[in-house]
Amino acid sequence: MSYPVPIDLRSDTVTRPGEEMRRVMAAAPVGDDVYREDPTIERLQEMVAGMLGKEAALYVPSGTMSNQLCLRTLTQMGDEVICHEDAHILHYEGGSAAALSALQLRPVPGDFGILSPEAVTSVIRPAGEHFAHTAVVEMENTHNRCGGTIWPLSNMRAVADLARGRGIKVHLDGARLWNAHVATSVSLADYAETADSVSVCFSKGLGAPVGSCLAGSYEFVERARNNRKRFGGAMRQAGIIAAGAVYALEHNVDRLAEDHQNAATLASRLLQVPGLAIHHPVQTNIVIADVTALGGAEPVVEALRAEGVLCGLASPTRVRFVTHLDVSAEAVAAAGEIAVRVLPALFRPAEVG
Ligand SMILES: Cc1ncc(COP(=O)(O)O)c(C=O)c1O
Repeated sequence: MSYPVPIDLRSDTVTRPGEEMRRVMAAAPVGDDVYREDPTIERLQEMVAGMLGKEAALYVPSGTMSNQLCLRTLTQMGDEVICHEDAHILHYEGGSAAALSALQLRPVPGDFGILSPEAVTSVIRPAGEHFAHTAVVEMENTHNRCGGTIWPLSNMRAVADLARGRGIKVHLDGARLWNAHVATSVSLADYAETADSVSVCFSKGLGAPVGSCLAGSYEFVERARNNRKRFGGAMRQAGIIAAGAVYALEHNVDRLAEDHQNAATLASRLLQVPGLAIHHPVQTNIVIADVTALGGAEPVVEALRAEGVLCGLASPTRVRFVTHLDVSAEAVAAAGEIAVRVLPALFRPAEVG
């Protein structure tokens, strides 16, 4: 066995910087970024703006702060933000759109995390004193809670055209936009063109330890910079961590294809467990398994943990497996073997409704 145990498939956020990344980080030139004097951060921001085809980018500590800064910068108190009913900003950001920016989120259903233009149109508020102002439509690509699914570019364009025609801004939570880009070969800039603000993360599949960038027009990013200060996210010699992101962009984007292949392999193995179902297409590095017929998510997580495989509780009936840089093809194959060996004992056919 030549892989580390446990096999940690809870999230792609668990990756740790390798030796070479750490060496580059230790040697990074730094300065005070609030004075705009950190050369490594300047370099990262220019790289990201260039890759996304935006005028400017801003380094921030987390994906949550990045999304929330974009929302704050695009809106006014009491505005409404249309998002998918499984959006990260709705479920996993601590209620911060309400707490920090006095925003109301309007959840909308859609297959695999994707909003149709018709669904968006149906919830745009009319003008009038009774109504919240629909200020932003939010897209998430890839879609975390729906299984790493990819918003097709044509669909993003249709939603963007509709929003622009109604004077509504578009925000793209692209925490894993890299994965969509590698899976489809659509350029990052083509995806980003559909949005006024884009957030991308370095600390997920790319394997850097800290940070995200938001991107948009010069004017947007200058206002977001001011809000970053207000949110407490302006850092000083943060080039030391930004260097990990530069390294990740240079070395770890194309290899995401390996994670996608590993996820597909794992999914096909998991489907050999009687009663286990996967309802979404496995397009990138996330597999969400419906384990209702195995007695629910908790016994499945526990049974796998006891055998050295870690996965996440996505809901009481769903478990999540995420492939990443720190789990090899061999380790993922072993996780699949373990699942096929231990999980059938949990199968309770009577619970299939
Ligand atoms: C789609 C999406 N957006 C935003 C975030 C937030 O990132 P962070 O954990 O850095 O705050 C995550 C985290 O997993 C995510 O999956």
